[in-house]
Amino acid sequence: MEFVNRLVFGISITIVLSANFAAMDVTSFQPCNFSTIYNFGDSNSDTGTLSAAFYPIPPPNGQTFFKMPVGRVSDGRLIIDFIAEHLKLPHLSAYMDSVEADFKHGANFASIGATFVNWMETFWQHGVSPFSVNTQINNHFDQFKNRTIDLYNQGKVDISTLPNPKDFSNALYVINIGHTDLSVGFRKLSTEQFQNTTLSTMAQNVTDYVQALYRMGARTFWIQNARPIGCFPNSTLSIKNSKLGFLDQNGCIKSQNDIAMELNKQIKDKVIKLRTQLADAVLTYVDVYTAEYDLISNAKSQGFTDPMKICCGIYENGVYVQCGKKENINGKEVYAGSCENPSTYISWDGIHHTEAANYWIANRIINGSLSDPPIPITRACHK
Ligand SMILES: *[C@@H]1O[C@H](CO)[C@@H](O)[C@H](O)[C@H]1NC(C)=O
Ligand SMILES: *[C@@H]1O[C@H](CO)[C@@H](O)[C@H](O)[C@H]1NC(C)=O
Ligand SMILES: *[C@@H]1O[C@H](CO)[C@@H](O)[C@H](O)[C@H]1NC(C)=O
Ligand SMILES: *[C@@H]1O[C@H](CO)[C@@H](O)[C@H](O)[C@H]1NC(C)=O
Ligand SMILES: *[C@@H]1O[C@H](CO)[C@@H](O)[C@H](O)[C@H]1NC(C)=O
Ligand SMILES: *[C@@H]1O[C@H](CO)[C@@H](O)[C@H](O)[C@H]1NC(C)=O
Repeated sequence: MEFVNRLVFGISITIVLSANFAAMDVTSFQPCNFSTIYNFGDSNSDTGTLSAAFYPIPPPNGQTFFKMPVGRVSDGRLIIDFIAEHLKLPHLSAYMDSVEADFKHGANFASIGATFVNWMETFWQHGVSPFSVNTQINNHFDQFKNRTIDLYNQGKVDISTLPNPKDFSNALYVINIGHTDLSVGFRKLSTEQFQNTTLSTMAQNVTDYVQALYRMGARTFWIQNARPIGCFPNSTLSIKNSKLGFLDQNGCIKSQNDIAMELNKQIKDKVIKLRTQLADAVLTYVDVYTAEYDLISNAKSQGFTDPMKICCGIYENGVYVQCGKKENINGKEVYAGSCENPSTYISWDGIHHTEAANYWIANRIINGSLSDPPIPITRACHK
């Protein structure tokens, strides 16, 4: 069984499934009946960590679906919320959230600003989260699991809000590569340094984290690759060099997307290697990059406005006001509120998606058509 997933710099080519794929009848696989999800990553999938730990995400975040801010950077639900809904599970509570949390069906460890590599920066400098993916897995998840098992063995576990210990081995473990490491890297490193060392460090770190989770009993992994960071309006709107060549036909910064694609290639290679090293693991590599790039390329036909426009936040003539913030500009107070109709925008705040874009991307990845191997998420526990 062979399938080719080719990504050529600047152009995304949809997965080509060989004729042999028909021989692998995925519908013959039983549904996995996942009862729990554990999620790790950055702001793309944080459902309340940083909000609980530091300060609440301001309105108008949350306005479309939740009608109030709920720790997510978007007007509504994130891809991880749509994944939970698709698996008929509740939205995940953040592990750090001690108010109204319910972990019966899993927990979310992702944090805004979380990185895979240790960049030796504090939150108060440039917003890098203290809850790195390393901490999320080796400290937070490890404790969550140990304490749940201890309470269960003591007969003290409140099974209405904690999972059954047997669910740790058949849970779905979602790892979001995110974009924070790439943003930090572009700020700190030359393209050469990035390519020569940091990308392979990052890919190796992903391997280390999967192995750590495996040692803790995780078996089913759903690994979502890095987004096309060169298409974030937050970066494209601040550049003056708009020549084609620097930008691609969609207005994305080519060199940044090239780095993201190179990272994804290295991570995919590591995932393939991990399959031979971890006998009982099932690893699905999910090409979120291609889903998002396809959406940006086909924004108009998919019912969206210019993908470089942002719904919430002000970005004009060098003036930048972050979504939900007030700034004093030339003696006038300016509030960066939401656009009229977020469902027609791809970018919510210049970096993160609107709920409508998250929904579109979730639909593209859930059925497995952008995964290696191409198995729907409901059946992702099968080798
Ligand atoms: C999931 O549940 C269905 C219905 O109860 C069952 O037929 C199936 O075998 C289960 N799948 C697995 C992988 O256990
Ligand atoms: C990432 O990998 C590098 C090199 O292997 C290692 O030095 C570093 O500690 C890792 N970072 C984290 C956060 O685990
Ligand atoms: C969790 O339990 C394992 C096995 O007993 C132990 O090795 C590990 O250090 C514990 N982790 C924490 C964070 O207590
Ligand atoms: C990166 O690698 C290339 C080729 O090996 C080498 O020529 C170059 O000096 C390296 N650059 C840095 C910044 O390490
Ligand atoms: C977005 O761009 C503005 C202006 O270039 C910059 O000040 C801000 O830090 C960027 N935001 C993020 C989260 O990168
Ligand atoms: C998966 O869903 C997408 C979006 O709905 C659709 O375009 C694609 O054909 C589907 N692929 C498969 C294999 O079902």
